[in-house]
Amino acid sequence: MKQRLLKILEKFKDKKILVIGDVMLDKYIWGDVSRISPEAPVQVVNVIKETYEPGGASNVANNVSALSGRAFMAGIAGNDEAKNTIIEELKKKNVDTAGIFLDRDKPTTQKVRIIGKGQQLLRVDYEKKEHVHKEIEEQIVKFLNEKIKEIDVVVVSDYAKGVITPRICNKLLEASKSNKKPVIVDPKPKHRDLYMNADLITPNNSEASEMTNIEDGSDEAVINMGSKLLKYLNTNVLITRGEKGMSLFERDGSVKHVPAKAKEVYSLIGAGDTVAAVIALALASGASLEEAATLANIAAGIKVGKIGTASVSADEIKRGIEEL
Ligand SMILES: Nc1ncnc2c1ncn2[C@@H]1O[C@H](COP(=O)(O)OP(=O)(O)OP(=O)(O)O)[C@@H](O)[C@H]1O
Ligand SMILES: [Mg+2]
Repeated sequence: MKQRLLKILEKFKDKKILVIGDVMLDKYIWGDVSRISPEAPVQVVNVIKETYEPGGASNVANNVSALSGRAFMAGIAGNDEAKNTIIEELKKKNVDTAGIFLDRDKPTTQKVRIIGKGQQLLRVDYEKKEHVHKEIEEQIVKFLNEKIKEIDVVVVSDYAKGVITPRICNKLLEASKSNKKPVIVDPKPKHRDLYMNADLITPNNSEASEMTNIEDGSDEAVINMGSKLLKYLNTNVLITRGEKGMSLFERDGSVKHVPAKAKEVYSLIGAGDTVAAVIALALASGASLEEAATLANIAAGIKVGKIGTASVSADEIKRGIEEL
């Protein structure tokens, strides 16, 4: 098992992953707080620095790139400064941004965190969740139809900010089927029916609960959710279960549980993005679904144990495999 996982990991390099979904910019404003404003009873933050990270779907692309895969990002950004910033950040991380189209009707989805003396004081969001217009849909569909021939695996990273429309999802699944490229979906429950006939969906337990109307709370409930989703959507299902690890439901009827290694958790943000990126690279490298899930579980366990936003490296996963 260990030898096999190490072999798969070695093949991650240069695998081509197309990520389609909601590009976001995470902006952090770091400062000092020393006084209350004379204008209103609020703290005044004296800014020391500003930092940026790719968020949402673009964090999946970032994770693929950090593991030496080649990431191609498809989605939209608005006509604003945040668009330039996110594209610059993604380029720095070697993510191909040719599939990010300009949408003049939306702002670039952006989450700004203001942190004073190490403590988050406020979050400011820029977003407009409506579906993209027809013209943008056509640009994206055209891009996908061309790109699909060149890549190994597709990830749909849906945060329901407007890119994953019925038409885009449909056309993507059609193109993937005819080009025999696997599609992995990190879903939003309200878009459930769009994901029919994908190869794998990766909801967490609360998303799976919402998608099936089965109340979460026991191992049995999770098994019922997985079987129901699999039948209804005709797709393999990987339910991520936080500190309990993951449960994989395959079309052949098998159910496998991948336990998480107990970890001290520093940040849960982005664990799901790490899972999607590692599954994609593993499948592109010839892994079975179970092997892909085992690797993703190791990687996500490392991710939650990290302070800050740093992504997981191949060396860290390698050590994780050796410790199995
Ligand atoms: N406390 C933990 N200890 C070990 N591993 C964990 C822990 N929490 C999460 N993980 C790992 O991260 C994976 C994904 O976590 P989770 O099920 O919380 O995903 P998620 O809710 O989709 O995350 P996100 O908020 O990033 O979307 C888990 O399947 C597991 O491998
Ligand atoms: Mg998630």
